[in-house]
Amino acid sequence: MVISLKNLIIGSFLSILILIALLGYRQNIFTSTILPYDDEQTGLDNQIVIKFSHVVAENTPKGIAAEKFKNLVETKSDGRIIVQIYPNAMLYNDHNELQALKDGEIQMIAPTFSKMTDYLPNWQVLDLPFVIENEEQLERVLTGPLSDKLLDELDSINIKGLTFWSNGFKQMASSDSPIIETEDFLDKKIRIMPSNILEEQFNLLKANPVEASFDDVFNELENQQINAQENTISNIYSKNFYEMENHITLSNHGILSYAVMMNHEFWDQLNTEDQTILLDALEEMEIWQFEQAVEINNNNLQALLREEAVSIYKLNKVSRNKWKKELFPIYDYFKKNVHPTYLDELIQEINN
Ligand code: SIN
Repeated sequence: MVISLKNLIIGSFLSILILIALLGYRQNIFTSTILPYDDEQTGLDNQIVIKFSHVVAENTPKGIAAEKFKNLVETKSDGRIIVQIYPNAMLYNDHNELQALKDGEIQMIAPTFSKMTDYLPNWQVLDLPFVIENEEQLERVLTGPLSDKLLDELDSINIKGLTFWSNGFKQMASSDSPIIETEDFLDKKIRIMPSNILEEQFNLLKANPVEASFDDVFNELENQQINAQENTISNIYSKNFYEMENHITLSNHGILSYAVMMNHEFWDQLNTEDQTILLDALEEMEIWQFEQAVEINNNNLQALLREEAVSIYKLNKVSRNKWKKELFPIYDYFKKNVHPTYLDELIQEINN
């Protein structure tokens, strides 16, 4: 029997295809199943997978909080609930993580509250500068009734709000020259998160606010599309922003915190026992999370102080009062756009 060259090629090609398909099936390459195939493993049908996507480095207050949450949940559920963490915007970034959450592509995110203000304008209250002055006040506010009220507002956009995590206070970092006096803001191209209050803040200081996704900041600094930003020390350090923004003013002018949230449908489908496991884990790590945020920011500040190329300045009382004076109209701006009771409630909780 003579086998033509054409038949031989077709036969070999088909065999390779069958082999690839078999291997792919065995390795779960062609299925959306996240769990590895295991003949002996039982109870897979009960397994719940939570994909948790975030944009910062793993060694930051949010990064380690996500890890702690994962460990607590997996231990409390005896491995039945699995939390898969995707840091550094490896899956979704500032522009698309909320939509991915709503679409159920992922089940959990923890964006800064500032990034939610376009959808929930009342959240702008937390972006007001020079209202929260120290860690104690910050913790009180993020665990108090106002924060519960803000988290409940997430229901209106079909998201389940779980808790707030902290990353402490924002500082001013800049390239070329420091920002210490109010005049230093003039014409600086300052990266901001999407928040009208933050935009107004830098307009009042006569700078140029430029909105950018967190994962674009490094490139935009390199390309000189921006030359300054407000951020926490841990974010400035862990993303190497200080290599370009080597002037850092410790201004503590605003806070940066995270709203930990879940796809509402996913939450609703969990039984009460599993919902309790998630809530207990968050409660158990609450104080730890605040302490870690302080510690990581302090450690990273020490590391930055050791960097010869980095200059760190402390905002003195006189300069700080000048910033406050320039920014005073922002409270009127806020009251025109958001119901003033939010600011009253915030001040009341701070003074409690
Ligand atoms: C984050 O801490 O999640 C990022 C904050 C930012 O966008 O500056």
